Amino acid sequence: MHEIPVIEGDGIGPEIIDAGKTVLEAASDARNFGLDWHDLPYGADHYLETDEVLPDHALDELSKYDAVYFGSIGDPRVEPGVLEKGIILRLRFEFDQYVNLRPIKLLEGVESPLRNRGPDDIDFTVVRENTEDFYVGIGGRAETGKTEAELEVERKLYKTKFGLDIETDAEEIAYQIGSISREGTERVVEYAFDHAEENDHDLVTGVDKANVLTDIYGMWREVMDDVATNYDGIDHEYDYVDATTMWFVKNPDHYQTVVTPNTFGDIITDLGAMLQGGLGLAPGGNINPDGTSMFEPLHGSAPKYAGENRANPTATIWAGALLLDHIGEEEAGELVLESLQDVIAEGETLTRDLGGDAGTDEFGETVAERVREQG
Ligand code: IPM
Ligand code: MN
Repeated sequence: MHEIPVIEGDGIGPEIIDAGKTVLEAASDARNFGLDWHDLPYGADHYLETDEVLPDHALDELSKYDAVYFGSIGDPRVEPGVLEKGIILRLRFEFDQYVNLRPIKLLEGVESPLRNRGPDDIDFTVVRENTEDFYVGIGGRAETGKTEAELEVERKLYKTKFGLDIETDAEEIAYQIGSISREGTERVVEYAFDHAEENDHDLVTGVDKANVLTDIYGMWREVMDDVATNYDGIDHEYDYVDATTMWFVKNPDHYQTVVTPNTFGDIITDLGAMLQGGLGLAPGGNINPDGTSMFEPLHGSAPKYAGENRANPTATIWAGALLLDHIGEEEAGELVLESLQDVIAEGETLTRDLGGDAGTDEFGETVAERVREQG
């Protein structure tokens, strides 16, 4: 029996989670293990009613479990950032979910916006570092409050020391500091190499910006070079993140396992999601191999579609497959992914984003039915 806490969240969250639960329950019947859901109320409604975002006692409770099934968060009635930082980022940080695993795989039957590219071309994994970098939250704003005389001294210094004409008379500055640790980098890079090994990949690509942010990503590369020495038969290389956005589009077939710091990982996986056909198709796992992990679709809560039974639950079902894999039900995870893949490839029951007219629930039921037939 596996006990799984569930946060369905806001907007389309309840509908996509319902579809996901239906499919996972079918898999648990087919593979003879129990699933026991524990629904938790956190999200916009709960916050607006109680002023509580994610209380400490919820974290204590969640810490008892291996995996949380998560829908989507965000609501126009709540200021941006409150729920995202207070729930998603809090879970990632409190539970030290240092890996954000994001498969970029074009399923058969889905058309990529990239011309002439099929499932064989778009099939890689991004391992995004998930607890450091610019997400550490160190930052602030300050009035510089400098006198004209002090500014004059600074200008001279810039001029004589660096030969630069810099205007230093800003009245207010804002700053945000990115920081990574050697240990934090090592563990996620090791995870990426292990992932490569398990999936018969012979290349790990590091994505950074070591040509400009030399301190932070200089160390990132140093660590990658060190870790790589422990893995025979797996090459590694580096791309700058700006170039990566270009290569993802031009040569997606080049990539196998990609590992990248948090911020760039956020950005390039939205691009990756588009390559695989859209945000509705992109799952993610926030993983702490020794703690509480969390599985979710990449997309947000799409408030304008809330309650319309039209959202594509594929990303959530797929995230459920990653969850099953994580809790040791690998066969059930595979069964879910295969069934999902089959239903999409057949093309008879598709949600509107994929050109069909099936509702969220109907799509979920169809995948669940396929799980029962194949299981
Ligand atoms: C994601 C999201 C989050 C992030 C937000 C909602 C905090 O964009 O999971 O990619 O920035 O990581
Ligand atoms: Mn994102």
